[in-house]
Amino acid sequence: MIYNRPLPAGIVLEHLGEVTSTNDIVRERATQGALGPLWVRASSQTKGRGRRGRSWLSAPGNLFMTGLVTLEVPPSEAANLSFIAALAVGEAIGAVVPPSLIALKWPNDVLLDGEKCCGILLESWDSPRGLQVAVGIGINVLSQPENIDQMITCLADHALPDGNLCDAATLFEFVLRSFHHWLALWREQGFEAIRNAWLERAKGVGQPIVVRLPHDTLEGVFAGLAQDGALMLQMHDGHLRQISAGDVFFPA
Ligand code: BTN
Repeated sequence: MIYNRPLPAGIVLEHLGEVTSTNDIVRERATQGALGPLWVRASSQTKGRGRRGRSWLSAPGNLFMTGLVTLEVPPSEAANLSFIAALAVGEAIGAVVPPSLIALKWPNDVLLDGEKCCGILLESWDSPRGLQVAVGIGINVLSQPENIDQMITCLADHALPDGNLCDAATLFEFVLRSFHHWLALWREQGFEAIRNAWLERAKGVGQPIVVRLPHDTLEGVFAGLAQDGALMLQMHDGHLRQISAGDVFFPA
């Protein structure tokens, strides 16, 4: 059970009121010498940020959290943490909504009944202590932003009948317990174990997908994940293409 997953020794947990971004707070703590494991949760954010320079609207009642991890691996491997974070969110929300509704979408989205319910933003920097990564996670718990050109949802709209676990504080603890479980597995067994777990829970493996790149749109079959987490797309001419960044769509 997710409730029983152990927390690492010395973990520091902080709950703050309004902040600019929980990623900013974690960066500040790192500048002050923190190494992690450290997790910061805020009740609201005034400058929540998303991937590719987008903002992340941060309504009270939703979950905004960032973890600090210090790694002794090359920067290219830091991206492994986004798969770990997606596994953790998927597992955590499985305690709150029917697990059959949850699927992971490359690279690091978590879908609930086919719609996005969470965002994950990794920011990393070098430090004298090693590569440090802020693992920012936002979950739409009670509401989702309006007027976004994306299918998005919130947990409350799908909560299990008693619904009493569906609050940001409880989910915060579930996510970080699960995150440290998968992080420990990664440290012991490497990315292969994470990759396999992620693929078991992913939407669309072996099926046609569309991948939108900054200057191109590709169609093919989602053939799996490369050793480094890149998406493998089997093109119609049989060629296997590896994609490191892009947006995936599932044709109807
Ligand atoms: C995305 O674009 O999908 C990623 C969104 C990440 C949002 C979270 S909320 C907590 C943390 N603080 C931020 O400013 N961003 C991340």
